[in-house]
Amino acid sequence: MRLDKLLANMGFGSRKEVKQLLKQKAVTIDGEVVKDASIHVNPEVQQVSVYGEVVQYTEFIYLMMNKPPGVISATEDNYDQTVIDLLDPLAQHFKPFPVGRLDKDTEGLLLITNDGQLAHNLLSPKKHVPKTYYALIDGEVTEEDIEAFKLGVELDDGYVTKPGELVILKSGSTSEIELTIQEGKFHQVKRMFESVGKKVTYLKRLSMGSLVLDENLELGEYRELTEEELASLQQNNKKKE
Ligand code: URA
Repeated sequence: MRLDKLLANMGFGSRKEVKQLLKQKAVTIDGEVVKDASIHVNPEVQQVSVYGEVVQYTEFIYLMMNKPPGVISATEDNYDQTVIDLLDPLAQHFKPFPVGRLDKDTEGLLLITNDGQLAHNLLSPKKHVPKTYYALIDGEVTEEDIEAFKLGVELDDGYVTKPGELVILKSGSTSEIELTIQEGKFHQVKRMFESVGKKVTYLKRLSMGSLVLDENLELGEYRELTEEELASLQQNNKKKE
């Protein structure tokens, strides 16, 4: 990879700013000052330093976002703000994308990464990665609904869902529930409730596989996954291969 690209990716400014650093003799490769921005460097075997500080090169970025409502789970959109628009330029440099989609009005856990393999594994229907949602339902959710979801319900297009685990937190004219499903059909939670004659009025994703939404994140905030969170996600995926 070109040295200027590597340094720009790691947050040392634009390529122009990186050129300034090189001019100032601030950059070394394996201890030797380099001034040529176009030089190729292999961060796996060569040590790049800026002002004596070793640059820890990472290829991948893994972010957990508490997605706010009103924002689209996509990399770009002609009309609406996307979750990628909410990231700072340094994170955007990595060209990350959201792993799966939450509806525009859905809140909660969204993993954003540029690791295509991890994303593929998490989204593959074969891996049965469980996703847990919290929802408010207009109408009384009942034991019959629990049974129906356990057996699988027929959606409006005739698709019969895999078993879902429904937990009633509060039942009444407005009910509070948690639902765990292992699929990710379009609008699945909303359509599952429609199939039993009820309407989701608020939806928030709480977890995806071993990854649990950090409740300290305000809506729209994000942070990098911890090493433990990432290792656990990768481990889960391996087990199911
Ligand atoms: N199910 C839905 O209906 N919407 C979402 O955003 C996620 C799951």
